[in-house]
Amino acid sequence: RLYPVILSGGSGSRLWPLSRQSNPKQLLPLVGRQTLLEATLRRVSGSGAFHPPTLVVNAEHRFAVAEQARLAGTAPRAILLEAVGRNTAPAILCAALDLLAADDSAIMLVLPSDHLIRDAKAFRRAVETARAAAAAGRVMTLGITPDRPETGYGWIEKGGALDGLAGAFEVARFKEKPDAATAAAMLADGRHLWNAGIFVLPAARVVAELERLEPELVQHCRDALDRASKDIDFTRLDPESFGQAKAISIDYALVERVERVGTVAVEMGWSDLGGFDALYEVAERDEQGNATVGRTALLDARDCHVRSNGRLVTVLGLEGVLVVETDDAVLVADRGRAQDVKQLVEKLKSEG
Ligand code: GDD
Ligand code: MG
Repeated sequence: RLYPVILSGGSGSRLWPLSRQSNPKQLLPLVGRQTLLEATLRRVSGSGAFHPPTLVVNAEHRFAVAEQARLAGTAPRAILLEAVGRNTAPAILCAALDLLAADDSAIMLVLPSDHLIRDAKAFRRAVETARAAAAAGRVMTLGITPDRPETGYGWIEKGGALDGLAGAFEVARFKEKPDAATAAAMLADGRHLWNAGIFVLPAARVVAELERLEPELVQHCRDALDRASKDIDFTRLDPESFGQAKAISIDYALVERVERVGTVAVEMGWSDLGGFDALYEVAERDEQGNATVGRTALLDARDCHVRSNGRLVTVLGLEGVLVVETDDAVLVADRGRAQDVKQLVEKLKSEG
């Protein structure tokens, strides 16, 4: 059985003003009524294939996260708390060390908490295939067919097929966050997949590889766990030790640098909902191409994306406009500029 490890750290600044530091993307009901975190928890519970999940989360969100687990009907085996996030490598490493203390052959299923997966069956099948390969020591990722030269993702060059495992390939090369020209070339050659950010990892191999590649990181994470304070619900990683851990993602720290990496190519209706354009893509739209959420009224509007959290939002005679209403902030933007919301947030921060 796999040990799900669910990461909840980022805030999703491209979805401002919906997502905030205090109310990040994974805690929002962005698609349907469940939050993305609840949907993630449900995806790996209520089946004999999974152990209870381990969560690694920002301490600030601990009660909200525990509540999501309750709603999803699952009791986590541990909730590890970070006082300050150090990106995904330290988070995954702490989970690996914690799991190894209980099961020295543990295989982890590492899941971001803020993605949409429409086809849960395809997801489970792909994960089962990846588990079989990881049981033989491989570092496994799930791979998605790319449809744009995205520079914010990891890209996987497919190698030979993995024997006897449908849809599974050797990874010839893994490139995290390529530049635009490289991404365009990889899209064009048809030999590449996107890394979905979902990994199936033998915990012992993660620790062994990082002992070799990032020994100080491993030491800081061991200390953070040894000196952690525990209560019934939460394991608070020692802030002093954890704070010294190098802030680096698992993609750069491990996946890009090790041998015997594999991928399972899967079509599962995946989106990382990285911005308002992704939300618009997955939303239901009317005949004029408008997507609306909450109390809205539109007249002579086309291809607009309008979201209300409370107040009535009305749009008249506009095309391709994004409007996002919340209690204390409203965003009005050209829909084509959705990715630049991040820059707007940076401007707000710098101006205090
Ligand atoms: N606990 C914890 N602590 N979780 C974190 C932290 C942290 O410090 N930083 C990020 N996370 C969580 C995020 O909440 C998210 O669920 C997941 O880890 C991935 O982090 P992102 O910051 O969203 O990574 P990314 O989008 O830049 O890149 C990753 O995902 C892409 C697909 O969406 C990489 O794995 C890419 O290779 C991949 O293509
Ligand atoms: Mg992401």
